[in-house]
Amino acid sequence: MKNEEKRAPDWWRTSTVYQVYPKSFKDTTGRGSGDIRGLTEKLDYIKGLGIDIVWLQPVYVSPQNDNGYDVADYYNIDPAYGTMEDFEQLVQELKKRNMHLMIDIVVNHSSTEHPWFKEAKSSRDNPYRDYYIWKDPAEDGGPPNNWQSKFGGSAWQYDEGTKQYYLTLYDKTQADLNWENEKVRQEVIDLLTFWADKGVSGFRMDVINLISKDPAFPNDDGSVPPGDGRKFYTDGPRVHEYIKELNEKVFRPYHLVTVGEMSSTTLEHCIRYSNPKENEFSMTFSFHHLKVDYPNGQKWELKPYDFEELKQVLSDWQVGMQQGGGWNALFWNNHDQPRALSRFTNDSEYRNESAKLLATTLHGLQGTPYVYQGEEIGMPDPKWNDISEFRDVESRNMYNILQQKGKTPEEAAHIVSVRSRDNSRLPMMWDDSDQAGFTTGTPWIKIDERYPFINAKVQVEDPDSIYHHYRKLIEYRKKIPVLTDGKYVRLDEGHKQIYAYARINASETLVVVSNFSQEEARFDFPKNFTEKIPEDGSAKLLIGNTEDQPELSPIMKLPPYGSYMWLMKTTH
Ligand code: GLC
Repeated sequence: MKNEEKRAPDWWRTSTVYQVYPKSFKDTTGRGSGDIRGLTEKLDYIKGLGIDIVWLQPVYVSPQNDNGYDVADYYNIDPAYGTMEDFEQLVQELKKRNMHLMIDIVVNHSSTEHPWFKEAKSSRDNPYRDYYIWKDPAEDGGPPNNWQSKFGGSAWQYDEGTKQYYLTLYDKTQADLNWENEKVRQEVIDLLTFWADKGVSGFRMDVINLISKDPAFPNDDGSVPPGDGRKFYTDGPRVHEYIKELNEKVFRPYHLVTVGEMSSTTLEHCIRYSNPKENEFSMTFSFHHLKVDYPNGQKWELKPYDFEELKQVLSDWQVGMQQGGGWNALFWNNHDQPRALSRFTNDSEYRNESAKLLATTLHGLQGTPYVYQGEEIGMPDPKWNDISEFRDVESRNMYNILQQKGKTPEEAAHIVSVRSRDNSRLPMMWDDSDQAGFTTGTPWIKIDERYPFINAKVQVEDPDSIYHHYRKLIEYRKKIPVLTDGKYVRLDEGHKQIYAYARINASETLVVVSNFSQEEARFDFPKNFTEKIPEDGSAKLLIGNTEDQPELSPIMKLPPYGSYMWLMKTTH
């Protein structure tokens, strides 16, 4: 049965999404890792923030080599997370609260434990062979080309039995599906339909811009960094065609909200993916703003982040998507990124101000904001003591690869501790009880020792907390149209400490000014903007992160990590 949506087709433009990494959210069994019931138990907490869409990460049957992004059965729940009844109950409980469920769909690849892959591997003429990408060895017997896995090493795995290589852009146990094969596309349509019939309202499509590979599978000559082959399969030749088919057969008939995760993409492609006229996705995730601390695009090397580049990237995407009619998914954090709080601001002395600054800065932009579990209570990256504390396959691989490339074990451990995805995968800190209220057992990954004072209970009880700051921003998005439709104008003109922008529609103007530094900052609005600032002080401070209530004026003094949002009438 299809959803009988009475809402506007783009209702999600005023929504905020809450991302749940179930393994680290809430354990109800004492096994030490989170489960679906744990999420259901905490729905009122999420609802309290004003959230209307919950994105639940993969809970399908999986060997968990990449924490569920390696799916072995697209139609069943992994017992580690619960049962199908638990899932159905989650859907019901969300509906009761007028909330929506978005689930994660991982169809660039499947686990090598999936029955399709087992069949495919069994012989060259098995009917499932062509579900995956198989190539003969190169002349020297090595891999068919020099493409690298995103998790390190060659992207090709050799199968002794059938004497061919298969492609794995991620872990060795994540085999890339062959979308050229019509049967694979039909399988995807079938599984999407199955979950839509279960009552989910949307899909987050994992690395979906990698599904169409250059059919020639050329070697990468390294002329464009990082030179690992990605230019031959990113936003590939048939990707838009494939997505349009999913839209026509599933997204549109079921009125779904969809977000595509776009790895190393371009603005031009994201406009196409997310402009409603194209009938592809509702919106896209892109990552360029989270690469501003990658020297030369290299994730596994360190440099301080480039503030100007950060502002430039955010602004280019704001302006570009707006002009092209696309729609951004806005985010600072997810399960693949270290915490922005630790990365771009000060997570100790100014933790509270910094978390609010990041929130205000992001939630003033155009797009649909995403809040990743723990962000709303100001969870920082943990302090890592030893490499054995890491669980993530990518981090473990890279620790070894960095040493093979000449780093000392200490240097390699340092780089991993800064870059590891595990930084954001520590259990949610609910209260000051044992194991932060996450589990009664032994947690699958360590708990941050700061939980006695950084936890959800403290945050919910304090009206001035980071949590309530998020709550206000989420509410404003529902109520203040300029947050959705306002034209973006950057105002800071290369200031070394300040990021400032306005959002303008015919009747209202919103202004956001944030000091991303530890020192006080002076900010002069550009001349052509000062005349728009009302002299009678009628610009209303919507939200700030200091006790004083600064008035909007042509020259501002901001304290360390000060950040404010004002609303005023548009003057012409
Ligand atoms: C996406 C997921 C990440 C996963 C990868 C492979 O980037 O967010 O966690 O490892 O895809 O599925």
